[in-house]
Amino acid sequence: MTMSTTLSQTALLLELEPVVARNLDRHLALAKEWFPHEYVPWSEGRTFDGPLGGEAWSPTDSTIPDVARTALIVNLLTEDNLPSYHHEIATLFGRDGAWGTWVHRWTAEEGRHGVAIRDYLTVTRAVDPVALERARMTHMSEGYANAHGDEVLHSLAYVSFQELATRISHRNTGKATGDPACEALLARVAADENLHMVFYRNLLTAAFELAPSQAMRAVADVVADFQMPGSGIDGFARKSVAIALAGIYDLRQHRDEVLQPVLRQWDVFNVTGLNADGEAAREQLATQLESLERAASRFEEKRDARAARLSLR
Ligand SMILES: [Fe+2]
Ligand SMILES: [Fe+2]
Repeated sequence: MTMSTTLSQTALLLELEPVVARNLDRHLALAKEWFPHEYVPWSEGRTFDGPLGGEAWSPTDSTIPDVARTALIVNLLTEDNLPSYHHEIATLFGRDGAWGTWVHRWTAEEGRHGVAIRDYLTVTRAVDPVALERARMTHMSEGYANAHGDEVLHSLAYVSFQELATRISHRNTGKATGDPACEALLARVAADENLHMVFYRNLLTAAFELAPSQAMRAVADVVADFQMPGSGIDGFARKSVAIALAGIYDLRQHRDEVLQPVLRQWDVFNVTGLNADGEAAREQLATQLESLERAASRFEEKRDARAARLSLR
């Protein structure tokens, strides 16, 4: 095979299948079983109004800071859209062989995240359960479509970044709640997301050996138009600004803690054997990282100025 050969989507799936099988074994050996119910402080729960005639929710039911509540809602709604994610990856990766085993296992693990976070939020009355349910209905009714949903390498690049982004967002949300129980729960979820990231990242490492130019093109395209999986959530723009201002997930973290570590693992700037498009993609990637650096610095300056203004009041 010459370097200029372009592999079809089917050929990529076939060539990567043994890598999937190896990484599936690795994942199953490393993933620890855990139980959502052990992370929820059930004795804090009270019956709500409605058919059972309990007490309606009130914002004063919980002392969790507003921005942490916002982040919890975004994180949970993101997890809630799992049926759409399953559809995307099952359609692309298939339901047979090692790919299929991974698709189902990953889906089962992700399903645990939504269950655990919802139980915690309901029991602790951290967020308005009526607004949450309405937001879930709205969000899931929109569904989710990956921007590069019919391209294997683009999808692998996307989930490599997205799983790490989700890990960081969960971990920092946990810290922002100031509740050790919530922090422990979200740290547990974040550990799952990290293993997911490693799985996808290893697949793309293999893709860089198999089809370096196609892999580079995929990474450059995905970095250029990256959107969080929850970007379709009602009011996402406003919510994500609040989340960024609180340092839970911002451009600096996106560039330095999500993109950079993964790109470093792939050693993108030392990959050899690229064709003209592969080289062009790598240049676009470098340009994109520079512009993200400028945007992240600008955001940090604005945030600092805002914090200084607020402290003068
Ligand atoms: Fe998750
Ligand atoms: Fe995940």
